[in-house]
Amino acid sequence: MLKERAPGESRVAITPETVKKFTALGATIAVEEGAGHAASIPDEAYREAGAEVATGPKAVEGADIVLGVQAPDVAALAGAKPGAWVAATFDPFRNGELVEAYAKAGFEALSMEFMPRITRAQSMDVLSSQSNLAGYKAVLTAANEYGRAFPMMMTAAGTVQAAKVFVMGVGVAGLQAIATAKRLGAQVSATDVRSATKEQIQSLGAKPVFVEEVAGIEGEGSGGYAAEMSEEYQKAQAELVSSHIAKQDIVITTALIPGRPAPRLISDAQIASMKPGSVIFDLAVAQGGNVEGSSPDETVVKHGVKIIGFSNTATHLAADASALFARNLFNFLSAFWDNEAGKPILDDEIGNAVRLTQGGKVVSERLT
Ligand code: NAI
Repeated sequence: MLKERAPGESRVAITPETVKKFTALGATIAVEEGAGHAASIPDEAYREAGAEVATGPKAVEGADIVLGVQAPDVAALAGAKPGAWVAATFDPFRNGELVEAYAKAGFEALSMEFMPRITRAQSMDVLSSQSNLAGYKAVLTAANEYGRAFPMMMTAAGTVQAAKVFVMGVGVAGLQAIATAKRLGAQVSATDVRSATKEQIQSLGAKPVFVEEVAGIEGEGSGGYAAEMSEEYQKAQAELVSSHIAKQDIVITTALIPGRPAPRLISDAQIASMKPGSVIFDLAVAQGGNVEGSSPDETVVKHGVKIIGFSNTATHLAADASALFARNLFNFLSAFWDNEAGKPILDDEIGNAVRLTQGGKVVSERLT
């Protein structure tokens, strides 16, 4: 495993815990010197777990499988075996050139974002594990930026009102955002295009805000992901959200549609309707943003409202994010481990879903 090369990436794809687990399967693990530093994992901890700590590109010399959080450039893989697997996130819809380069170099790119949403793959799903932490961090960051408190407080000097938090998009990140805001004592409401989320919102003690009686209300596309909504629905949603948003103190947006830019949920006019001092956290900012004017890793102030969002939210919780990411990768590879071959052999359902390149070609159906 190499140290992550992407700027600002503090996570790491193997932890001492997974070194031990892979070693027990019969694998030998090498990690690049300093790879875990930003996630608070010293080289010594890797050595104690049984990994070899190698300098620079030596960490991939002769490797059958390379693990990463963000896929490294092909140049960093010189020395890995021909046809080696690289299991990491590739952001495949936006990184066409990188995928082509993997094909040309003869590596097998295994994109963890393409893990199918089936029950047996849940423990392998890095999008879920990282989104969960991102939802938590979004609320904490918004709370920090907010010049008021979250819980209602009755003090000798008078009462402090509870903050009103609105979560837009109730997938994995949104559910965690609701739970975190509730724990901090806020009054929480939430919306989604998938009507199945209504009950989930209620079960967390939050108020669902939903468009009713408009065609296409189910909002569910394939694999549990959202589908793009009809114009009629989008208009009704915008009206409902407009009146609700004006009364909110904090808004957390998390809406994503796979392979498409993030849907625009909040316009400049809606921002203008909010009270000065309100905070919006745009978790989709790196995918184009749910909020007009949001910009990755910047605090944009419009109409007195702070708009924030990180290009990579999970990296701000690098230790936990790495632990979960590394377990996802271990769960994935160990599920297919073949003792005779001494390495994993993927089945068709999961293999065909995650494999982007093979035999010098781009093979993923979702990219061709
Ligand atoms: P996501 O990150 O793709 O999207 C976030 C949320 O935004 C989704 O709930 C989506 O419906 C919503 N959204 C999209 N467009 C919207 C709009 N215009 N307005 C409001 N909301 C909008 O979704 P995520 O978090 O990855 O999960 C989606 C579903 O898949 C969940 O039900 C989750 O439990 C399920 N899932 C299942 C897995 C498995 O079975 N292996 C693994 C991961 C998730």
